Amino acid sequence: MALDVDRLVEQLTLDEKALLVSGSDFWHTTPIERLGIPAIMCADGPHGLRAQVDEHDHAGSLGSVPATCFPTASAIASTWDPDLVREIGSAIALEARRWNVSVVLGPGVNIKRSPLCGRNFEYLSEDPFLAGELGVAMVEGLQSRGVGASVKHYAANNQETDRLRVSAEVDERTLREIYLPAFERVVTGAEPWTVMCAYNRVNGTHASEHHWLLTGILRDEWGFDGVVVSDWGAVHDRVAALGAGLDWEMPPDLERSPAAVAEAVATGALDAEILDRSVRRMLALVDRGRDALAADEVVDVDAHHELARRAAAESVVLLKNDRDLLPLPADGTIAVIGELARRPRFQGAGSSQVNATRVDHLLDELAAVVGRDRIAFAEGYATGGDADPSASDRRRAEAVDAAASGDLALCVLGLPGAWESEGFDRTHIELPPDQVELLDAVLAVQQQVVVVLVNGGTVAVSGWADRVPAVVEAWLGGQAAAGGLADVLAGVVNPGGRLAETIPVRLADVPSTLNFPGDGGIVRYGEGVFVGYRAHDHLDQPVSFPFGHGLSYTTFELSDLAVSTAGAVDGGTPLSATVSVTVTNTGHRAGTHVVQVYVGDDAASVARPPRELRGFRKVRLDAGAEVRLTIDLDQRAFSFWSPTHHRWVVEAGDFTIAVGSSSRDLPLATRVSVEAPSLRAPLGHDSTLQEWLDDPGGWALLDDLLPSEHPLRNDGFVSVIGSFPMETLAAFGQLGVTHADLDRLVARLDARSDD
Ligand code: BGC
Repeated sequence: MALDVDRLVEQLTLDEKALLVSGSDFWHTTPIERLGIPAIMCADGPHGLRAQVDEHDHAGSLGSVPATCFPTASAIASTWDPDLVREIGSAIALEARRWNVSVVLGPGVNIKRSPLCGRNFEYLSEDPFLAGELGVAMVEGLQSRGVGASVKHYAANNQETDRLRVSAEVDERTLREIYLPAFERVVTGAEPWTVMCAYNRVNGTHASEHHWLLTGILRDEWGFDGVVVSDWGAVHDRVAALGAGLDWEMPPDLERSPAAVAEAVATGALDAEILDRSVRRMLALVDRGRDALAADEVVDVDAHHELARRAAAESVVLLKNDRDLLPLPADGTIAVIGELARRPRFQGAGSSQVNATRVDHLLDELAAVVGRDRIAFAEGYATGGDADPSASDRRRAEAVDAAASGDLALCVLGLPGAWESEGFDRTHIELPPDQVELLDAVLAVQQQVVVVLVNGGTVAVSGWADRVPAVVEAWLGGQAAAGGLADVLAGVVNPGGRLAETIPVRLADVPSTLNFPGDGGIVRYGEGVFVGYRAHDHLDQPVSFPFGHGLSYTTFELSDLAVSTAGAVDGGTPLSATVSVTVTNTGHRAGTHVVQVYVGDDAASVARPPRELRGFRKVRLDAGAEVRLTIDLDQRAFSFWSPTHHRWVVEAGDFTIAVGSSSRDLPLATRVSVEAPSLRAPLGHDSTLQEWLDDPGGWALLDDLLPSEHPLRNDGFVSVIGSFPMETLAAFGQLGVTHADLDRLVARLDARSDD
């Protein structure tokens, strides 16, 4: 029987209510036994369940229950495949139910502002549209089985340095266009049961106490009616947080919070209705979560491992494949080089770390697909580095021997686990130098070299990739990463992964580098909306591999682009567009292609990125097959957030709709002309001379007022003083426009606009 929320709110005492909006321990809500309110449990996380079921082990030292470790978010995002992400979400939910966990703390949809963020492996993309679409799919998958999601970390949590205190200083347009849309899309599109607030401050206010974020935007604008839970330890002032819209404090500060809340209500410092509102939300959450409490699921561990393997294979991005070096040839010896090939690194460290049910090993998996007798192995380097130079020389020499005597060298390179994690940021994006030196030594004796990269955050490839014929980005691919990778290398699976983040030539090309990770408790998002490819494209910088890029063992061609529009800006039915394109598999094997649609405003009154991803579709096609796809764009696809008008705005004019396979490979483009009402700010005393001259009404009035030879009609003069507000020019007293004139002109304009 459902909990009777209204009745319970009447029956609960003030102290019980104050306890209900705190957890009871690290992972549970507070049970109120006398009223039959049970406790429900939550657990991390984004790519697999990290449930600590031992109630005395709050710090997690005993580890978590065995669970399938799916590919991390960086990897999963590279699939560009919402259906697959939904399937993974559903599998994680099943495992959650197996342990009677009602809420899973994920997905993480924070934007990769900088490749340095230590937690980038837990986040999906540098692009809000892609992060939003995949976030929706993950939440849908989880919640399809009656397990709640917790989309996190809301908002502007884009670094680990000083993460509990730092203030992200971000202007509203940048928040609206870059850092909020993925949350907005998930909240409005998938209705997550919970949203987790971030640790950091946003423009000076802790996210946990941020009324504008937690109530103004999340609830009033986006219609969220679930529970806002704190990140673990994000609450500083419990009463202020409750007032701002934070319902559930985790883990609870039981020494202080319940008493503080009860006292604030008793003294009238906090409106009792605010507490009741959060209590209602908590009760509704517990009610939904009761289903998982009663669940008695049996998990098919092997089937989930197979899903993890399929997902790992789909996550692999084939960056480069000169001379069609891959898939691996049918015969010849393969020298597999690199300690990471033997000791897999398949997930990141921190709260998302899963106790995997089993772990694939590349040597075994490769042996299974190409034959053990074809594989030679040399460790080449030690992931932790070598204190003893002679050990490092020996490893390198063995690797060079193996490479020289093999027909092909497969070098598995990547970031050591100690280099990236929740809790700290990287300071550079290079591979360990000893690995690059090893690669050079291998290249000196072998031309057929494939590099496989294992990393959570992007690594630079510009120092060496041009000397290597084939480069594969495998990310941190979960417990079946090795199997999925072997399938791709051997050609059992045709790679379909695409980059969800740019691989820049240099860290210095990433504009946030100027302001990362900030200092003095502040990080300024000075680059504004120019994040990821939006910046590289605007600055026309070369990149090593662009956003959206990824090769296949087959080839695809796009043709016959057509775009039709409907509706109108600020009319009854909003503007929309339908993009149609034909995709043909022009190669010799079946494969998948990701068709990407970018929109750019050809001329705007604010600085806008040249193009932004506004739609995509992944298609699977047999060799020679073709399909006609349609991708819908809504009005938001054309809009920017206007700081002047405090709303989304579409400006009249031409927009370029470009279709292709990366932000830099857009073979098809067309222009659509959009009509929209003029959004000129009303003229006033503070408007500049130039603004008056540009406005037809303003110009007509000045034209009447000024004699024909007046200096304000002179273009050269206007170019110098055009930026002066009219009021300032009036104050000069010598330019033919007095304060009284200006008052009259403004009054006439006002009278006209009232008509
Ligand atoms: C992390 C969250 C996580 C929580 C619970 C925090 O430190 O930031 O992502 O869900 O711990 O483990």
